[in-house]
Amino acid sequence: MSRKIYMVGNWKMNQKLEEIRNFFDNVKEIRSDMKCECWIAPQYIHIPIIQEMANVRDKIKVGAQNCANHEKGAYTGEVSPIALKDLNVHFTIIGHSERRSIYKEEDKLLNEKTKLALETGLNVIFCVGETLEEREEGNTMKVVKAQIIKGLEDLPSKYLSNLVVAYEPVWAIGTGKTATPDQAQEVHAYIREEMKELFGADGQNVSILYGGSVKPGNVAELLDQPDIDGGLVGGASLKPDNYVALCKVADEKSS
Ligand code: PGA
Repeated sequence: MSRKIYMVGNWKMNQKLEEIRNFFDNVKEIRSDMKCECWIAPQYIHIPIIQEMANVRDKIKVGAQNCANHEKGAYTGEVSPIALKDLNVHFTIIGHSERRSIYKEEDKLLNEKTKLALETGLNVIFCVGETLEEREEGNTMKVVKAQIIKGLEDLPSKYLSNLVVAYEPVWAIGTGKTATPDQAQEVHAYIREEMKELFGADGQNVSILYGGSVKPGNVAELLDQPDIDGGLVGGASLKPDNYVALCKVADEKSS
């Protein structure tokens, strides 16, 4: 299993239909022969519309930002991984820090979601990361380790080829404050070791993305780090020219 390079746009709760059409009209330089993985996670409701767009059929894969921890039933407002798979949705993000902090999603729930989504056949981007306070107290590795161990508990290793981990320091998300390449690399290397501990060689080969104020101006030096396998990008992924620039760097690093 070899590590791929990813450029994933997490659009969060942004974008109206007109903006989405404008985006896909202006990312034609993302070609199907690019070697990197180009993924976009819009709001659920936009997924089927986006799947119809040409560059999506060619290259860009569409995913969700979350999914339920149950297959079906009386869970008003939730979206089942079965429903996502049924619509050929490629992946889902699980455990983004906004889900953890605003919606109080805890490790046990995230573990259930991750396992169910993978069993259903979705790819999963599982997110971890420390707050500023946790970093300042010297607890970054401890926090990240606990999130990995609890979030991926009892995960059968046959699913590792559909798993991507994202390290997103909470203090760097949407703040314009990126972790330095060295700071990010240190945590990525630690996560890779932890994945090896938990799952052996296949765990070590899981791609680990960095997220937190990634933009065209800083992506190359981040992707130069040996354990950074791509980006999970919020703000900068909303603009087509930025997303194209990010994917071009990811493609170069894939070659
Ligand atoms: P940002 O968001 O790039 O706007 O910092 C990243 C994320 O939350 O995934």
